[in-house]
Amino acid sequence: MRKDLLEVLHCPSCFGKNLSVISTGENGTEIRDGTIECNSCKKSYPIKDGISNLLINITPEIASEQKGWTELEKAVVNTDELMLSLPDGIGEHRAAWKSQAENFHHMFSKLELDGKETVLDLGAGRCWSTSFFAERGCYAVGIDILLTKYVGLLTGDVFIKNKNIYFERIAGDMNTLPFRDRVFDIVFITATLHHSLDLHATLKEVSRVLRPGGKMVLINEPVVGMFKKTTLDCVEVKAGINEHVHKLWNYLRNIKKAGLEYRIYEYIGCCCRPVNLLKQFFSVALRKKSLYKRTDRMFNYLQLLFFGGILNIIACKKA
Ligand SMILES: C[S@@+](CC[C@H](N)C(=O)[O-])C[C@H]1O[C@@H](n2cnc3c(N)ncnc32)[C@H](O)[C@@H]1O
Ligand SMILES: [Zn+2]
Repeated sequence: MRKDLLEVLHCPSCFGKNLSVISTGENGTEIRDGTIECNSCKKSYPIKDGISNLLINITPEIASEQKGWTELEKAVVNTDELMLSLPDGIGEHRAAWKSQAENFHHMFSKLELDGKETVLDLGAGRCWSTSFFAERGCYAVGIDILLTKYVGLLTGDVFIKNKNIYFERIAGDMNTLPFRDRVFDIVFITATLHHSLDLHATLKEVSRVLRPGGKMVLINEPVVGMFKKTTLDCVEVKAGINEHVHKLWNYLRNIKKAGLEYRIYEYIGCCCRPVNLLKQFFSVALRKKSLYKRTDRMFNYLQLLFFGGILNIIACKKA
């Protein structure tokens, strides 16, 4: 961590802003070991391997998620080279990441970053997406509950060393973010919101830490069609990971409740055939671009509502 991180942090115990850092080891890039001390409640939080640990309450659900990811990590061969290639992947990993990667690049290009943004990557995991923001010059912070290499924040070292960039890494819970109000221009979330045990609590926290006019960018979130069940029985759930699927309106209602105005974007790599055929028909039939754009948006919405799919949203905090 670097000292300027204190400008966006608050104490997760008492919410005090008067924090200081005691460094016991540095490497020329950052403070690798030490503590963050709260001068109000006198609690202290460890900094280890550059990661600031502000996760104060490891609930049984968080412990189960940590255990589950650590177990699943062993099922594949992970290398630094693979991490550096994400989200595109290399070799046999390419196919598994293909649609997520295409979608990420498409949505990332929509952000038109100028490099001055302060960005929180929520559920950063291995930090590949955090590294994209840092490469663009943004002040980027990744938060997750996982610390270990190849699933969690420690993987960040691979990007920091190899790409000659810097970003902050914080162990913390998405439902009680250890940040001050209104400090981020962008909260970026990929494939993570559905791990929340309480969508309302998470989105309220996202809204709280966003500046007025700031954006929540939500991508790669699974949505289930309106007639389908929201129960899951996959390997991740069996391993103890908090996987959920929601219906579209559950996301939208909670986003609105958090004071965010959203727009749904097309998922690149969408494979719902009936809807794709209808879209193709309308793109030929409706020559007027603005009219086509409007029907296209309506189809995205209807597809997610009736058939489900993958949700992409950019939501703005009201100024
Ligand atoms: C499917 S992974 C996505 C990781 C990363 N965004 C990516 O696309 O590779 C979901 C992430 O959510 C994180 N997560 C789960 N519960 C969390 C919580 N309560 N607070 C913060 N992160 C959490 C997990 O540790 C995991 O890294
Ligand atoms: Zn405190």
